Amino acid sequence: MEGAILPSLPNTRVAVVTGGNKGIGFEVCRQLASGGIAVVLTARDEMRGGEAVERLNALGLSHVVFHQLEITDASSAAALAGFLKARFGKLDILVNNAAVGGVEYGQEFDTNEEKFGGMDFHQRVEWMLKNAREPIDSAKNSVKTNYYGTKHVIEALLPLLQASSEGRIVNVSSNYGLLRHIGNEEVRQELNDVDNLTEERLAELLDKFMKDFEAGALEPHGWPTKFSAYKVAKTAMNAYSRILARRHPELRVNCAHPGFVKTDMSMGSGVLTPEEGARNLVKVALLPDGGPTGAYFAMGEEALFV
Ligand SMILES: NC(=O)c1ccc[n+]([C@@H]2O[C@H](COP(=O)([O-])OP(=O)(O)OC[C@H]3O[C@@H](n4cnc5c(N)ncnc54)[C@H](OP(=O)(O)O)[C@@H]3O)[C@@H](O)[C@H]2O)c1
Repeated sequence: MEGAILPSLPNTRVAVVTGGNKGIGFEVCRQLASGGIAVVLTARDEMRGGEAVERLNALGLSHVVFHQLEITDASSAAALAGFLKARFGKLDILVNNAAVGGVEYGQEFDTNEEKFGGMDFHQRVEWMLKNAREPIDSAKNSVKTNYYGTKHVIEALLPLLQASSEGRIVNVSSNYGLLRHIGNEEVRQELNDVDNLTEERLAELLDKFMKDFEAGALEPHGWPTKFSAYKVAKTAMNAYSRILARRHPELRVNCAHPGFVKTDMSMGSGVLTPEEGARNLVKVALLPDGGPTGAYFAMGEEALFV
């Protein structure tokens, strides 16, 4: 699959999508490829990723290829960078879509869209909040994947993005990553003060969050108590994106919330289809040259990080 022929014309843009085997990521691949962009669909599992590429190739999108990527594995990210360098010498668009929900649902809750039919938006959100449990291992994995995994992929692919005339990064965020979910005002202000915030300080804050989580002391320290690790990791990713945008004015680094989407992550409870959610991200990926950087987009429109 990795050997498939991709266009090598100098004007062909190249995109990498993480977690492209299903859900919103799969749709982002389809929509970018439909726009004539050469897409490297990545997935941690070779079989799931390969099947996804086959489905897109069968739609006539022959310029989609697979490359394995486990975002928490530095050697996997390095192998992807090597592949891109050899094949294209650059990367134009990186969509950091892969993430985990960081929660568990009881076995009785299968992904089942039908049961949400009679519920409105708020009832669906309430259902999620009521039924999600957050074991410590899931919380740890959420921070490891959603913040550190995304960061490591960016670090590995940065030189290739810089080799593009205008490299773009879309970090798939969430309204759960907004600063309003951080109750501790001091921490909230620090995360919003991107002129002074550093990656080292972000790491310290995440360590402090995990310690408070393990001690059962989230609420007294002003951390969110539901979907807590997901919210904190996405908030940290937003802050990191803003640091990166300042450091690299030659790139466009933005965060984008797709909306509440029916996928495995939401247990099928969302209100948008993956196609609609992906459109909100692709719009940001394809903004005209010289567009905003260090910005947050909700459902395709620029919005505030707060
Ligand atoms: N659904 C929503 O309502 C919603 C709302 C706001 C934001 N988002 C964001 O949208 C993005 C896509 O979510 P989704 O709803 O499409 O979720 P999804 O259907 O659960 O898909 C998640 C994707 O990420 C991959 N992934 C997870 N951990 C990975 C790792 N360590 N390395 C590589 N790939 C990994 C999964 O691969 P496997 O198949 O191998 O597990 C899968 O391809 C996420 O960033 C999510 O936070 C979703």
